[in-house]
Amino acid sequence: MSEIIPVGLSARSYEIHAGPGMLSKAGSLLQPLTRARILPVVTDENVARLYLDALLDGLRAAGLTGRPIILPAGEGSKSFAGLERVTGELLDLGLDRGGLAIALGGGVIGDLTGFAAGVLKRGVAFAQIPTTLLAQVDSSVGGKTAINARQGKNLIGLFHQPRLVIADISLLGTLPRRELLAGYAEVVKYGALGDADFFDWLEASAAAALGGDEQALLHAVVQSCRMKAAIVARDERETGERALLNLGHTFGHALEAATGFSDRLLHGEGVAIGMALAFRLSHKLGLCSGQDAERFARHLEAVGLPAAIADIPGSRPSPEELLGHMAHDKKAADGRLTFILVKGIGRAFITREVPEDAVRDILAA
Ligand code: NAD
Ligand code: GLY
Repeated sequence: MSEIIPVGLSARSYEIHAGPGMLSKAGSLLQPLTRARILPVVTDENVARLYLDALLDGLRAAGLTGRPIILPAGEGSKSFAGLERVTGELLDLGLDRGGLAIALGGGVIGDLTGFAAGVLKRGVAFAQIPTTLLAQVDSSVGGKTAINARQGKNLIGLFHQPRLVIADISLLGTLPRRELLAGYAEVVKYGALGDADFFDWLEASAAAALGGDEQALLHAVVQSCRMKAAIVARDERETGERALLNLGHTFGHALEAATGFSDRLLHGEGVAIGMALAFRLSHKLGLCSGQDAERFARHLEAVGLPAAIADIPGSRPSPEELLGHMAHDKKAADGRLTFILVKGIGRAFITREVPEDAVRDILAA
């Protein structure tokens, strides 16, 4: 029970191998990609405790030696300090242009390792072994890599595609429920933005997928990766269609900023509320039916995700504060924000024609 999803990008093409128990096959999948026999493995403390030994064993079985670089867990590692540490250790290990770095972890480790590999010696190869649902369906695919700056998240980065993605869905069994749900928000996103049939399937099967049914979980991961791979193959550098993947993110980033990028709101939770707000805004502008906006929010609530600003614990951010954060969003150009709106479930589109008053009303509702 495993699937291979190709990401077609000419010379930078690669495959996503998804299934249960894939970690044990990592050595044999990675070995043909490099002439190096010593491979750096960047990971965080939580993931190292759970899965590092299994990966090192798998590498050894294929004649490879993994050299761990273990960072503190959490967004703080996606920093200049984290980059300095990782690039320094990669250089100490003698990583060169024929070598391969491995990112074993969630989106933080994947983004940091990808960026470090992208700038080290003007670009060395890396592979992603994503261990969170968010990373398996979104951040490990498509080559966006970055660290955070004082001025905001993901502002220092580059496009650097991995050579391989190995998504072992068995690893998701140890994810805290809240992290699993936050990743699920990105799964729903694919249905919401471009595949109404997938959204129907999610309504029927999310409880099974999130409750330990491996076949359902694999389908959710594979379908998400297929959609992301297709969009990235058509628009690698986000000159157009790839921006659809930001559905809910303009609102979501503002909410994350207003809550101080803290535990009050995980990225996926912000995206969930942001998508629900995008549906409500689309309805307010006469673009989408009220039934679809309601149906979308109901699904988020049914799985246990927040769907409204009022669902965030603590004091509610004001519309003016949120609009201020949105204006600083890197998607703001010429003072106008780019929004991803919907004409219904599965029918997202990109627009810069959104009246600020309508956005303010949605943020106040
Ligand atoms: P994360 O990497 O911080 O992981 C979340 C937590 O789960 C961490 O504490 C981690 O140690 C723990 N963890 C990871 N795997 C585990 C497992 N299998 N079992 C138990 N615990 C586990 O967070 P994330 O949600 O994976 O990623 C968020 C990051 O991804 C953000 O920095 C965001 O900007 C980035 N991101 C990037 C892209 C992209 O396209 N590059 C897309 C979306 C998000
Ligand atoms: N996560 C959005 C993108 O990869 O484009």
